[in-house]
Amino acid sequence: MSPPSHLQIAIDGPAASGKTTVAHRLADRLHILYLDTGAMYRTLAHLALQTRTDADNEGALVRLWDGAGVRIELDPNSPLGFRINAGGRDIDERILQSNEVTAIVSTIAAHPRVREALVRSQRDIAARGPVVMAGRDIGTVVLPFAQVKIFLTASVEARVARRRAQLLEAGVDISIHQLAQEIEERDRLDRERAASPLVPAPDAHAIDSSTIDADAVVAEIAEIVRNLQREGGGVIA
Ligand code: DC
Repeated sequence: MSPPSHLQIAIDGPAASGKTTVAHRLADRLHILYLDTGAMYRTLAHLALQTRTDADNEGALVRLWDGAGVRIELDPNSPLGFRINAGGRDIDERILQSNEVTAIVSTIAAHPRVREALVRSQRDIAARGPVVMAGRDIGTVVLPFAQVKIFLTASVEARVARRRAQLLEAGVDISIHQLAQEIEERDRLDRERAASPLVPAPDAHAIDSSTIDADAVVAEIAEIVRNLQREGGGVIA
């Protein structure tokens, strides 16, 4: 893999740290592509539930992904900024955020061959043009040459409050206690897995969003991008 000729911004961090909101708004502001890679792992989790594929069966999951004809259509006009289509049908955001999907997605994302398949698709999308990509391993594995890498964190309390608001908007009602447990368990699985665990890239800027809102985080990252462009850091936006 060689350094990109266009701008790549990687935003990684734990569940509900605000990555997707920040990444989406930043992409809108810079008029560049946006992709939430968590939605891709969630899509595979949904397909596994639909087909009763065992979340521990790595080979079956890879076959399921390869055979499902999943298409990611970048669409700045859709609320998510992209649409995910499998078998000719768009998958609804509420399905991707459902408890059932959330309960198995970290197990599915821990399989190395599943990750290889999804990372291939993610790199294909990044090759289309300047991009903001959100996930867990974007700066470390998917786009290691990204010119801007952000590791976005927030306290568990702030993340629980954010996730609850996000889920209520998607029509899902879960108690704060249950959400805290779910987030801490997903953090543990994402950090402790052997394949591409959640760790900051050594060259990532760490931003704590516990007490600042998404627009302030976006402004901070936009400033980092501007400085890089001023310094002529090889960025063609
Ligand atoms: O960001 P999210 O909560 O929608 O992510 C869902 C799961 O997918 C999360 O538990 C970890 C996994 N994931 C991953 O392993 N690598 C990514 N690049 C994005 C998400």
